[in-house]
Amino acid sequence: MLLQLLSVLWEALSLQVILVFLATFLLLSGYKSRPKDFPPGPIALPLLGNALSLDLKKTHLSVQKLSEKYGNVISLQFGNLWFVIVNGLHLVKEVLVHQGENFVDRPSVPLDDEVFKKLGLLFSNGPGWKQQRRFALSTLRNFGLGKRSLEERIQEESRYLTDAIEAENGQPFNPHFQINNAVSNIICSITFGNRFEYHDSRFQKLLKLLDEATYLQGSRGQLYDLFPTLMKHLPGSHQTILKNWEQLRSFVKEIIEEHKKDWNPSESRDFIDAYLNEMAKGDAAPSFHEENLLHSTQDLFFAGTETTSTTLRWALLYMAIYPEIQAKVQAEIDSVIGQSRQPAMDDRDSMPYTNAVIHEVQRISNIVPLNVPRMTTKDTIVAGFRVPKGTIMLANLTSLHFDKDEWETPNVFNPGHFLENGQFKKKEAFLPFSAGKRVCLGEQLARTELFLFFTALIQKFTFQAPKNETLSCEFRMGLTLSPLPYRICAFSR
Ligand code: HEM
Ligand SMILES: *[C@@H]1O[C@H](CO)[C@@H](O)[C@H](O)[C@H]1NC(C)=O
Ligand SMILES: *[C@@H]1O[C@H](CO)[C@@H](O)[C@H](O)[C@H]1NC(C)=O
Repeated sequence: MLLQLLSVLWEALSLQVILVFLATFLLLSGYKSRPKDFPPGPIALPLLGNALSLDLKKTHLSVQKLSEKYGNVISLQFGNLWFVIVNGLHLVKEVLVHQGENFVDRPSVPLDDEVFKKLGLLFSNGPGWKQQRRFALSTLRNFGLGKRSLEERIQEESRYLTDAIEAENGQPFNPHFQINNAVSNIICSITFGNRFEYHDSRFQKLLKLLDEATYLQGSRGQLYDLFPTLMKHLPGSHQTILKNWEQLRSFVKEIIEEHKKDWNPSESRDFIDAYLNEMAKGDAAPSFHEENLLHSTQDLFFAGTETTSTTLRWALLYMAIYPEIQAKVQAEIDSVIGQSRQPAMDDRDSMPYTNAVIHEVQRISNIVPLNVPRMTTKDTIVAGFRVPKGTIMLANLTSLHFDKDEWETPNVFNPGHFLENGQFKKKEAFLPFSAGKRVCLGEQLARTELFLFFTALIQKFTFQAPKNETLSCEFRMGLTLSPLPYRICAFSR
C-alpha cells in the first residue's frame, strides 16, 4: 500500500521535494482534531490523514477491516477533508432519502472543482443546481425521454453498432470504443443534435480523452486533492486530466458557437437550442448563463457516455463467460421478438429473464461503488453520531450490492437474484443509480439504452472468448469500476 502511494508520489515529483514540502506543510497547516461525537474510525495522521489506509486501486473495498472493527458508520480523514462512510441498506437510505435534504450538496474536492467549477449538474449546489437539474430533466423529457423518438434513435444506433460488429467477422476485437461511440451518440443527438460516425477520428479521439480522464481522475487524482496548490505547478497525470477536460470543453464550446450562429428561437432542435431559448427569456433564473450551458452540456456528455458504455462492456464480458446464460437470453429473444424485427421497449415486460440479466450485470459490476460524494448541508445525527456541516458523506453502494442477507450468491453472477417464479422481481438493495433528490438524472435514459442495445446485440451475435484467451472479471478503478481491456469474438447468429 505504502509502495503504491509512493509510486504515485514518485511519478510527480522527487522524494526530496516531497520531504521539504511535507515539513513546510506540517508547520503551516493547523491539525484539525476529530469533532465531538464523530463516528469512529482509525486515528488520523496530521498530514496524510488516513490516506495510508486506503488502497488507491480498490478504495471501495479497502476499508473492509475497518467496518469489521468500527461498524456501519466509519469516519476517515484525508488531508484536510473529513469523510463519513455509511454501510447497509438501512443507513444508506437514511442518508440518501429520509435525511436526504441534509446530504444534498456535493463537497469541494480540489481536482473536481478545477474541472467542474461547481457549475453544471454534477458538482453544483444550491439554487443553481436545482435550476439546472430541473431544466435538464424537463428538456431530456421533451427530446424524447419516454417518447417514441428516443426509442427510435437508439434502435437506429443499434443498427450502426451491430453493423460495425458484424464487420469484425468473428475475429477477436476490443469492443470498447464502438460501444462507447454508440452510447455517446444517443446523448450527443439529444444535446448537440447529431451523432458521430464510428470512423470519425476527431470524435474517437475525444472519447479516448474522456476515457483516459475518467480513469486517471479516479486513480491518480488523490495527490492533487491532498496538495492542490503545489500540484498545480508540477507535472504528472493530474496535468493530463486537466488538459483532457480542457480539450473536451473546447469541443463542446465549438458546438455551442455553431448553434448560436444558426439558432432559430421558434424551433428547438436539441438541448443546446432549448438552453439558448431559456437564456433569452427575460425572467430566466440567474444560473442560466453561458458558462453553465457549457458545464451542463459537458456533464450530460460525460455522465451519459462513460457509465452506460462501461455497463454494456461488463454485460458482453459476462455473456461470454457464462454461455449458458447467454443462450437463455437468446432463447427468450427468439420467442418474444424473433430475428425479423428490432427489440422495442414494449418487449421488456415480456422478457423477465433478459431484464434480470441486465439488472444482475449492474449489481455485480457495481460501477459507482461509493456513490458520487455528498456533503452535509447542516449538522446532522446519523445512527446516534454527530456529523458536522461540511463533512463528506459516502453511501457505500457496494455494501448493498454484495450484502449476504439480500442476495443468495452475492459474489456469483446469478440472474436468479431478480427472478421469482419466472417473473421479474424488483430488489430494494439494488441502487446503482443511487436514490433521493440527487438520484442519477439519466436513470430512465440509461435503462432504456441498456435494454435496447443489449438485446439488439444478443439478438444478432453470440459473444465468446477468443481461442486460447481467458476472460477476466477483474476491474480497473477509475471514477467508475470498469473491466480491464479485453478482446472478444462476436459470431453472427
Ligand atoms: C448505467 C448507467 C448509469 C449509472 C450506473 C449512473 C449512476 C449515477 C450515480 C450513482 C449518480 C450519483 C447520484 C447521487 O449523488 O446520489 C449519478 C448522477 C448523475 N447522472 Fe448518472 N448514471 C448512469 C447513466 C447516466 C446517463 C445516461 C446520464 C445522462 C443523462 C446520467 C447523468 C447523470 C447526472 C447529470 C448526474 C448528476 C445528478 C445530480 O448531481 O443532481 N447518468 N449517476
Ligand atoms: C463497502 O462495502 C463493502 C462490502 O460490504 C466492504 O467490503 C467495504 O469495506 C465497504 N467500504 C467502505 C469504504 O466502507
Ligand atoms: C491454441 O492452443 C493450442 C494448444 O496449445 C495450439 O495448438 C493452437 O495453435 C492455439 N491456437 C491459437 C489460435 O493460438
